[in-house]
Amino acid sequence: MAGILCACSAPKQTGPVQAQWGQAVYPGVWKTSVGNPDKLNLLNAVEATPKAEILNTKSQQEFPINPDEIKISLRNGKTVVRLPLDKEEQIFGLGLNFKTVDQRGRILRLHMDHYSNNDNGRTHAPVPFFISSKGYGLLINSARYIDAYVGTGVRVDSKNPPEARDRNTDSNWSANPYSDNLEFVIPEEGVELILFKGDNMLDVVSRFNLYCGSGFIPPKWGLGFWHRTPTRYTDENVAQEAADFANKNFPLDVIGLEPGWHSKAYPCSFDWDPNRFPDPDQFIQKMNEQNIEVNLWCNPYISPESSMYEQILPYCGTHTVWCGVVPDYTLPEARKVFQQHIKKAQLDKGISGYKIDEVDGNDSWLWPDAAEFPSGTEADQMRSIYGNLVMKTVDKEYRDINKRTYGLVRAVNAGGVSFPYVIYNDNYSHRDFITGIINSSFIGVMWTPEVRGSGSGEEWLRRMQTTCFGPLAQLNAWADGTKPWSYPEVYKQCQEVAFLRMQLLPYFYSAFADYYLQGEPPFRAMNLVEGFDGKTQKIKTKLDATENPYETVQIREVKDQYMVGDNLLVAPLFAGEMERSVVLPKGKWYDFYTGELVGENEIIQVKGSLDKIPLFVRDGGIIPMIPAARQTKAWIEGQPLEIRVYGTADGSFTLYDDDGESYNYEKGAYSIKKLNVQKGETSVEDVKSDGGWSYKDISWKFMTPEK
Ligand code: GAL
Repeated sequence: MAGILCACSAPKQTGPVQAQWGQAVYPGVWKTSVGNPDKLNLLNAVEATPKAEILNTKSQQEFPINPDEIKISLRNGKTVVRLPLDKEEQIFGLGLNFKTVDQRGRILRLHMDHYSNNDNGRTHAPVPFFISSKGYGLLINSARYIDAYVGTGVRVDSKNPPEARDRNTDSNWSANPYSDNLEFVIPEEGVELILFKGDNMLDVVSRFNLYCGSGFIPPKWGLGFWHRTPTRYTDENVAQEAADFANKNFPLDVIGLEPGWHSKAYPCSFDWDPNRFPDPDQFIQKMNEQNIEVNLWCNPYISPESSMYEQILPYCGTHTVWCGVVPDYTLPEARKVFQQHIKKAQLDKGISGYKIDEVDGNDSWLWPDAAEFPSGTEADQMRSIYGNLVMKTVDKEYRDINKRTYGLVRAVNAGGVSFPYVIYNDNYSHRDFITGIINSSFIGVMWTPEVRGSGSGEEWLRRMQTTCFGPLAQLNAWADGTKPWSYPEVYKQCQEVAFLRMQLLPYFYSAFADYYLQGEPPFRAMNLVEGFDGKTQKIKTKLDATENPYETVQIREVKDQYMVGDNLLVAPLFAGEMERSVVLPKGKWYDFYTGELVGENEIIQVKGSLDKIPLFVRDGGIIPMIPAARQTKAWIEGQPLEIRVYGTADGSFTLYDDDGESYNYEKGAYSIKKLNVQKGETSVEDVKSDGGWSYKDISWKFMTPEK
């Protein structure tokens, strides 16, 4: 009997605990820990380090809620966290969702997985961070699967309980009555919580990103056009494809090779296939001579036929994925074997980066939660952080050679914000792509749409337009070999929008600089725009002055338009639609192409044309542009700058530049000029001139016709 008692674990700590929030660790950032949290968490798994010097320049903030109203209790190895919700409060974030923006009223299990068309928490970035429309955010720094009840469960002791209604007689009865609390169940005996408050929602996101390590600036070539060739293409096929892009005059900076470059794939060898790529050095050199970077697809499960297999085997988990071993990348030994291999076989040859596939999951082929890893990291935790670990492992190699990388990945979690990767997936809903961009901006990850194929030329063009206004403009032809010119009836328009992206690169690049320097996401939700009221907007109905020309409509969420940087509003059109509504935040807004006023603080109906993606600029908005070129090399070599000015308000723009390829910017080697317009007068202010200025001369263009 005594023996049986001894075998039991010590009784778990149980009952309510009061979190001690104490002093802010940085302005507007509070950290607390309750109970006995796991040693490993999302942030320390990748050694995410707060950007203290920037956080410390932020405004001081008051703790946003009454700390007594944050209820935490420990229950038999679990931690339950509860926060109050106001009636009108909206909750954003909680993972990379593709169909919904406001998560109020939803139940989510935050679980790393391939997204399966359902916003249930299983997704490529199940980041346990939310941001409230009340201007604060909370990170649950746990690598476990977390249940989130976002205003769903109604408590007996609710302060603002819903009315109990009689379903027999009351047509307002609801199966989901309103709830005034937000509850999380974390399967851990304690947890670390980090709370953020800012001047507005964008400022909250910015502090969250800075705390997690801050955003990145991609290499300049990474913002050019990308094309991925079919799986079994040979070096000659790829070279021909590159030549076709040149002959057809279509932008191209990066070629992505899909599984066929490996001698074995699924699991992967990370060795070149001797038949398809007999001389990788020569192939890469030939590409580089044409100013084309090469990116390699991979999944990190190592094939028994890989030349690194025997070396990495001792540092792998108990289970395989497609019969390949799963390295425990929390172990320095595992990282070293992998790093040495990719350095010799790929980086030293000039490979510019990777597309890291299959790190998100799918229960039926990934390791089960029963798996064990040599470091003792539990299988569920490993799943939550695996994408982050692989990115970090690769990242180190590029940093060692002081060469920026940019790539794609299918799993990111909190702590991954500083890794230069964008998330993609196999889904192909054009609308979901936009909602993905919007939601990524709340949680410190970046999502990118891509083009693959289409049912019609019109659809192809609409998708191409969106991709050119995303963080990584890519045609992923891995399966069927589509080309930009596969739909000849719209080729000219595809070319135009790809070149428009190339012209806008100074603007995009400065938006990325804000990501690095301020933690502000370059592609972002309308909810993060000051003056955007996500719930109530006015719509113009009649223009008869004797009547109220406005009618108020309620909008719950805006999921089909977004911002690039501070000034540019993107409202994509979808196949079959030549018209759409656009919600304009406060202030006047102007058509990007004509400079004409389109409205202010209202919903407008926009009649589109086939050849243009609707774009709008805020009053006083400044957009720096360069001449259209097929490759970013022209930009690096030096281009004249045209600065477009929209509207009549005063404005200023922080134009950033650096060498475009090294990490020297992290040591301060960059330049910033402030472009100002005041009462119609223009000026250029030197803020910092520490290298990498690629603009020759500057001209101004006032876009808005004087009335
Ligand atoms: C998928 C990936 C595709 C493509 C394919 C190659 O998992 O999402 O973009 O790379 O693998 O087999």
